[in-house]
Amino acid sequence: MITLPLANLLIRRACADDSRTMFEWANSPDSLAASLRTSASYDWDTHLAWFAARVDNPDVILLIAERESTPVGQARAEREGTEAAVAIYVAPNQRRSGVAHRLLDYLGGEAARCWSGTRLIAQIRNHNRASVELFTRAGYRHVADKSDHGVFQR
Ligand SMILES: CC(C)(COP(=O)(O)OP(=O)(O)OC[C@H]1O[C@@H](n2cnc3c(N)ncnc32)[C@H](O)[C@@H]1OP(=O)(O)O)[C@@H](O)C(=O)NCCC(=O)NCCS
Repeated sequence: MITLPLANLLIRRACADDSRTMFEWANSPDSLAASLRTSASYDWDTHLAWFAARVDNPDVILLIAERESTPVGQARAEREGTEAAVAIYVAPNQRRSGVAHRLLDYLGGEAARCWSGTRLIAQIRNHNRASVELFTRAGYRHVADKSDHGVFQR
């Protein structure tokens, strides 16, 4: 856990108490629009199983950013072989204040510490200009184009 100077932002690993907040974020329209997997919303039982498989999993780094004890965003990396897929979400009323940038920075540090040599991969839908900007500024390189998304790597 670390406290960063950016407006009292605290970044920590996710725990069971975060399940409800993450459910709400996963089902927000912009989160679903950014997803490559589905645009359909998740039901609670599906989410609970998804969350249980990730929290405390050594192949998953699941981070929560908090301000004044309120979760304001999440970032995660899921490792498979030599690569880890990265995803991120920041609550709409907390955007453009550097939360995502800090989360990606911290996630990169944790991945290097826990999974030395693992490449971080972000798949970003073509319309998602904010994410393209975010990941590029965080040091990810555009390495491939797929039909509806780009692949970025760090
Ligand atoms: C993308 C997202 C995570 C950015 O979160 P954020 O906390 O607002 O981002 P930050 O404030 O840390 O921004 C860091 C940089 O990213 C870029 N950026 C962020 N939002 C942007 C936007 N709306 N338009 C253009 N660039 C943007 C900028 O370069 C910004 O730096 P700057 O503010 O100095 O210009 C947030 O908009 C979000 O949760 N979107 C919905 C989910 C999503 O798209 N997830 C990514 C799936 S790959």
